[in-house]
Amino acid sequence: MQKITLQSIFDEYNNLGELNEEDQLLMLQAQAAANDAYAPYSRFNVGAAVLLENGVVLKGNNQENASYPIGLCAERVAIFATGANYPGIKIKAIAITAFSRQFDIHKPITPCGACRQAIAEYENRHQSKIKIIMMGEHGKVLVTDTIANFLPYQFKADDLQVKI
Ligand code: THU
Repeated sequence: MQKITLQSIFDEYNNLGELNEEDQLLMLQAQAAANDAYAPYSRFNVGAAVLLENGVVLKGNNQENASYPIGLCAERVAIFATGANYPGIKIKAIAITAFSRQFDIHKPITPCGACRQAIAEYENRHQSKIKIIMMGEHGKVLVTDTIANFLPYQFKADDLQVKI
């Protein structure tokens, strides 16, 4: 029996001001996206902003529905918008944040399992790591350089013997 050690690296910053300018600006776009979320049911506004290799920034936010399960998370709205509008362009980074209209979010918001899988697909599609930058309404900021740190042992194209 061999034990496999998974390596995961998360950098924690005390506040947004400690990040480099590019990452700070991307988080500001994620905050703007959160303001425009359509979240009347959860009252939990999530915003995501994707930075492409060509400098373009695309925003996404959660889009809820009276038929609850059909709503979509902010991260997937942003990732799928990228796939639809810039299919050949790599994503450099995604910033994710949220605020609640009911309570204070003082720790970083991390992507849900389904969004991790969707971000992983985009990394694999372009063979290019995506930096993930996360924060709550205020407080600490968490940064990691690939979704693989959140999602080891991914189910991916090779498992289906598909070449993408
Ligand atoms: N949500 C996101 O947009 N992203 C996440 O990573 C977690 C959850 C949304 C879905 C739903 O609209 C609300 O937050 C509460 O779950």
